[in-house]
Amino acid sequence: MGAKAVFAAAEGEGFSAAAAHFRTGPCHVVLVKDVRAEAPEAFLTPDELAAWSALKVPKRKNEWLGGRLAAKLAGADAFFPGVPPREIEVHRELTGSPFLVRRGEKRHISISHSAGVCGGAAGPDFLGLDIEEVAPRHPGWYRDYFSPAESEGRDDAAMTGLWAAKEALFKALGLGLSCDTLDADLSGPEPVLRGKALARWEELGRPTFALEAFDPGPGLQGRLVFANQPPIKR
Ligand SMILES: CC(C)(COP(=O)(O)OP(=O)(O)OC[C@H]1O[C@@H](n2cnc3c(N)ncnc32)[C@H](O)[C@@H]1OP(=O)(O)O)[C@@H](O)C(=O)NCCC(=O)NCCS
Repeated sequence: MGAKAVFAAAEGEGFSAAAAHFRTGPCHVVLVKDVRAEAPEAFLTPDELAAWSALKVPKRKNEWLGGRLAAKLAGADAFFPGVPPREIEVHRELTGSPFLVRRGEKRHISISHSAGVCGGAAGPDFLGLDIEEVAPRHPGWYRDYFSPAESEGRDDAAMTGLWAAKEALFKALGLGLSCDTLDADLSGPEPVLRGKALARWEELGRPTFALEAFDPGPGLQGRLVFANQPPIKR
């Protein structure tokens, strides 16, 4: 396992939380939990506040808010040092893929939330973050979402890590789970892509990428996928 998240009390305008900041390769990652949003208008933009207020389900409200806070803090660490969260806005492409905007400057990020931990990563354009809770799964989960080589000899924690790796890769590709999980086979040292994932990777200029594990805390698996070389321009 790579970086281990070490949470410490954090406070900013309008919020308090436990936050962990760390770097993996060229990426800045921030995880937050136990977020108390005393004054969300102090760290959200007016459009974000309107979007957040329109959400009805408390769990979704909390993860949406935590994900935005983590992404803004990671964006400040990576690109906009000293800039307060309310001056950095999180947008989403039509695909759902998030990005940051600060005074017209657009930067790529990735967001994930699981079991009360919300994460944001900021870094290269090709970037995907996923956090997953380790849990017993139905036998169909192993059968339907993984190749036999991927499932062989892996326990629940390792399989959850593999799932997080796939999701992180599909987020980096901007696809999310709109593609088949079997489009990426991660059983060997080099990922094997096929179908929609392969087509998208080729469209992006075949970026060379790294897959790193990190430890978000007990019972959780974290994975980050990021470009470690600029894509070939064609
Ligand atoms: C992306 C997806 C794999 C995330 O699955 P998950 O494990 O439930 O959720 P996670 O907490 O790990 O990640 C959620 C975040 O992924 C990001 N995301 C969503 N779609 C994405 C995509 N196509 N590419 C990259 N990131 C994406 C979002 O920022 C989202 O957080 P937010 O909704 O708070 O902004 C899954 O939601 C998905 O593929 N959905 C299908 C596509 C879809 O419904 N798009 C919505 C169009 S508006």
